[in-house]
Amino acid sequence: MKHTVLQLGPMLPLVEKGLAENYVVHLLHKAPDRAKFLAEVGASVEAVASHVRTPVDAALLDALPNARLVANFGVGYENVDVAHARAKGFVVTNTPDVLTDCVADLAIALVIDVARGVTAGDRHVRAGKWLKGPMPLATKVSGHRLGILGLGRIGRAIAARAEGFDMEIRYHNRRQVPDAPYGYERTLADLAKWADFLVVATSGGEATRGLVSAAVLEALGPKGFLVNIARGSVVDEPALVAALVEKRIAGAGLDVFADEPHVPEALLALDNVVLTPHIASATTDTRAAMGQLVLDNLASWFEAGRPLTPV
Ligand code: 8YV
Repeated sequence: MKHTVLQLGPMLPLVEKGLAENYVVHLLHKAPDRAKFLAEVGASVEAVASHVRTPVDAALLDALPNARLVANFGVGYENVDVAHARAKGFVVTNTPDVLTDCVADLAIALVIDVARGVTAGDRHVRAGKWLKGPMPLATKVSGHRLGILGLGRIGRAIAARAEGFDMEIRYHNRRQVPDAPYGYERTLADLAKWADFLVVATSGGEATRGLVSAAVLEALGPKGFLVNIARGSVVDEPALVAALVEKRIAGAGLDVFADEPHVPEALLALDNVVLTPHIASATTDTRAAMGQLVLDNLASWFEAGRPLTPV
C-alpha cells in the first residue's frame, strides 16, 4: 500500500517524479477549490511536501488530521508555522548541508564583485566606456575584515573560504559559538563597526526581522560593504536603500530582498550594488541534492519512523 503525500506547489522534476513513483500524491496547487479539495482528501494525507516559498500555515495543518511530517524544500523554513506544527505533533524537515557550499561560494562572489567591481567592469566594457577611460579604483578584499552575522553551517563555510583570502574574521550570533576560532562581537553594531564587509548568513523569520537596522548600517559606515545571502527580511530594506543612495555605506551585494522578485527601483541605477535573483543555491548539483533530500526525508519517515534532517 502506497502512502499518501500532499504536494503544495510545483517542485523540481526530480522531486515530482520521485513523489509520483512512490506515493499517492495529491496536488493542492492544481485543485480549483482548495477548501473543498482539502475536505475531500485531507484525512488521507500522511505527509506534506512543501517548498520554502509556499506557506504551511495553521489552517492547512489543521486540515490534515492524520499527517505528521512536513518535508520542506529549502534550508529555510520560515514558510512553516513550526510552533503550530509541533503542537499538532508534526515533524518538520528542511534541506541543510547540501546547499552550504554553493551559498558560501556566492557570498564570496558577492564580496569580491562589490569590492572589485566585476559586474560594474563588465558593464563598463560592454558600454564602450573603456575606450574613453579606466574604471575608478576599487577596494582590496584580501587581508581585510569580514564580519559574519550568523555563524551557522553557512556562516562557517563563508569563514573557511575567507581564510583563504587571509581575511580577519569575526562574527555575531545570539550566543558565542564555543568551538569557533573567530572573534565574537557581542552586538551586531560592534561587528558592523569593526568590519569592512558585513555578510548576513543568519536564518529568516520573525526572530531576525530587521536586525540589520539603520543604526547597524551607520556603524558599517561609508567604507563598509554589506552582503546578504540569507533573507531580505533580516535587513531594513528602506534603510539600506537610503544608506546606499546617500553613500553612507560603500556598497552592497544582494541575493535576497524583502519582496522577491521585486527589487527597489533605486538600487537599479547604482553601480556600487550587485544584484542577483536569489541564486545562492541555484546550481544543478545543489538543487538536485536538495530535492533528493526531500524525497529521502519522506522515505526515511515512512520506512524508519524518523526523518533525516528534522529542524
Ligand atoms: C531556496 C533558499 O531553496 O534553501 C533556502 O532556504 O532560500 C533557497 O535555497 C530557493 O529559494 C528555492 O527556490
